[in-house]
Amino acid sequence: MSTARTKLGIGNSSICPSALAPMQDVTGLPFMSLVAERGSPDLFFTEFFRVHANSRLNPAILSSITDNPTNRPVFAQIIGENIADINRTISDLKEYPVAGIDLNMGCPAPRVYKKNVGGGLLKDPSKIQQILQSMRSMIEGNLTVKMRIGFENDQNFEEILKIISDSGVNLLSIHVRTVKGGYNSPPQYEYVDKALQFLGDDCPILVNGSIESASDACRLKDKLGVMGVMIGRAAIRNPWIFRQINEFSRGEEIFIPRRKDLYSYCMQLYKVLYNPGTDERKMVSRMKKFLNYIGSAIGDDGCFLKRLKRAVMRDELFSIFDEHLLHGERSELEIPIDSNLVSSSGVASSSGCEF
Ligand SMILES: Cc1cc2nc3c(=O)[nH]c(=O)nc-3n(C[C@H](O)[C@H](O)[C@H](O)COP(=O)(O)O)c2cc1C
Repeated sequence: MSTARTKLGIGNSSICPSALAPMQDVTGLPFMSLVAERGSPDLFFTEFFRVHANSRLNPAILSSITDNPTNRPVFAQIIGENIADINRTISDLKEYPVAGIDLNMGCPAPRVYKKNVGGGLLKDPSKIQQILQSMRSMIEGNLTVKMRIGFENDQNFEEILKIISDSGVNLLSIHVRTVKGGYNSPPQYEYVDKALQFLGDDCPILVNGSIESASDACRLKDKLGVMGVMIGRAAIRNPWIFRQINEFSRGEEIFIPRRKDLYSYCMQLYKVLYNPGTDERKMVSRMKKFLNYIGSAIGDDGCFLKRLKRAVMRDELFSIFDEHLLHGERSELEIPIDSNLVSSSGVASSSGCEF
């Protein structure tokens, strides 16, 4: 396992290796930098590069490889199914300092899986076999896969695991839901055990799905016997989570952010996402991709999230940040690190949002 870890670029000092999950429209260069400043995960993955007959490497996504400020490996994720197009994309990616190439076998968006790519691939193990064999022959370095446990059910799970094992894949990130399970069905961590039975030490596993805190991460790693964890949405809400995982795994005191830290994070997010000339309303919508998760970092009876969702203009947004995160003694209040305080629907209580 330690050779496999080293090959992936994971340092010896990591007790609970972690990765930031790829998230389209979220985990670009600005967000990666912002997370790295607060404590990097061991590995980063790009948003997916689309692969089709006319595809070219998307320059914005490419910048997270060429301008990677994190000092950590970045894996390029691709989504596609046509072997010639995949091979061309791999040749193009090899011109850049990628730590490896990752195949997306999990995207649940119907417009994606209906083209038999992303999560759609899970319906067709023989296609997966052809793709992985071809990718393996093209890639001397790390070939990695991110998958769900199946499309509608687990009927192809074992066959796909065997293909992954036979194809010499160097890392499997497993999101423990089916494609049809979307993002909020209960995570089925028990499937990790089956994956461990099929994959040897040469293909370590990152478990992924609804890991909310450093203690969740370290306990799951130990309980399941995987190499480490991959975290998505919780890192948007709590970009300190990777630092906290390191601290928790070493038995050190965990950094607990305060509301003023969340305020700085929100303001910095606006700044790094800002493009001169972008319409203000569009900027606020872009921020909402993040704020929908950040909004549940604090309780305030659901009001913070509810108000953020309603904001249209920048000043509205900033004054909501001010009121909830800085006003009076609020700035010193600790951000709870162990739970998602507001339900995922983010509905505020019927008492409204008087502040
Ligand atoms: C906004 C968003 C965008 C995502 N984009 C991708 C993607 O480009 N590639 C991918 O493999 N998974 C993508 N995912 C799935 C995540 O990588 C991850 O598997 C999923 O969110 C479960 O992990 P979590 O519970 O820690 O968030 C995305 C998820 C979200 C919420």
